[in-house]
Amino acid sequence: MTFDLRRARQDTPGCERVLHFNNAGSSLMPQPVLDATIAHLQLEAQIGGYEAAASAHDKIEHVYDAVATLIGSARDEIAIVENATRAWDMAFYSIPFKAGDRILTAMAEYASNFIAYLQVAKKTGVTIEVIPNDAHGQLSLDALRKTLDERVKLIAITHVPTNGGLVNPVAEVGKIAREHGILYLVDACQSVGQMPIDVNAIGCDMLSATGRKYLRGPRGTGFLYVRKSVLERLEPPLLDLHAATWITKDSYEIRADARRFENWETNYAGKIGLGVAIDYALQWDINITWRRIKNLAYMLRTQLSPLPGVIVRDRGVTQCGIVTFSVEDKTPEEIKQALSQHNINVSITSRDSTLLDMQARGLDTLVRASVHYYNTEEEIERFCQVVASLL
Ligand SMILES: Cc1ncc(COP(=O)(O)O)c(C=O)c1O
Repeated sequence: MTFDLRRARQDTPGCERVLHFNNAGSSLMPQPVLDATIAHLQLEAQIGGYEAAASAHDKIEHVYDAVATLIGSARDEIAIVENATRAWDMAFYSIPFKAGDRILTAMAEYASNFIAYLQVAKKTGVTIEVIPNDAHGQLSLDALRKTLDERVKLIAITHVPTNGGLVNPVAEVGKIAREHGILYLVDACQSVGQMPIDVNAIGCDMLSATGRKYLRGPRGTGFLYVRKSVLERLEPPLLDLHAATWITKDSYEIRADARRFENWETNYAGKIGLGVAIDYALQWDINITWRRIKNLAYMLRTQLSPLPGVIVRDRGVTQCGIVTFSVEDKTPEEIKQALSQHNINVSITSRDSTLLDMQARGLDTLVRASVHYYNTEEEIERFCQVVASLL
């Protein structure tokens, strides 16, 4: 099967207006996602919010099936929440840590996750240990194996860090976690929708993701996967009348499925939009779109690298659609502003989002240009021409 670029762009109204290399920020939504989200808002305005939710019951329930199909889980292992951070938090803060437990993570861990480790370490006395990188800049599997003991309570890593093309070897880590019976949490915020994700192939117990990035869903949507076999051991840090049922004056019962990590009120239009975004993603062959994303990013790195003063910063054996670079004598903010004058979107990744990795590499801020399958070879050429004109 070949990739139908014409269809991808026809389905994406934003393609006509902008050269969008900020897909790791928030992708351009395809028309069906836009239509479904707006239609539900209109229904709410016309017949009432509760009534609209009741009439869209099947579409709302379908979102769980869509996520389950996307990542190879069961529908009752899925919670739909407002973003990836909340998804990750609900899993992490549910783990019953005690003093002396060890949390293992990777160098390019995301700030929000690391802040949570620090908070829990302060409260409970767990230790946080960062597995060093291998020579390619990804988590070292040898170092991970060597440090394991019975005190390791959790391995928690980010699949694709926020600050570059690196893809951590999540399935290899999963194999090690399984062999030692250690809980394993994967932040797949930047990888879901970009590359094939199968929770059984990864071997994780929990996985968090967002809707707005490579899935091309609406902002303010995300989901959490929690494996059935660990679900009952995890008591959510926050409960409400959706996550639990009030039984008597002195008791409540937490629901049995992963919706124990949700709360009652939600953005139904966004949730429906997320379901449609996943259905839309599933219409494409993810192996083909993943290959295309990698090829486009490779092309971008290859064309940027020879430009005088430009340094491409991506690391890893497999490199994904996120391309980071710096430019001599220009700040990333200046580059971003100048590109924006040409109707080109990029974002900036800063030190405090992935502090350990950026510090270790002596970096402060970088330009982040992230491509999706609907971007074109011509856009890459135009992008590089504009960057060259700024030097
Ligand atoms: C690795 C990683 N994890 C989590 C998040 C947070 O996602 P959200 O904003 O949907 O909560 C991001 C956002 O950039 C991210 O890059």
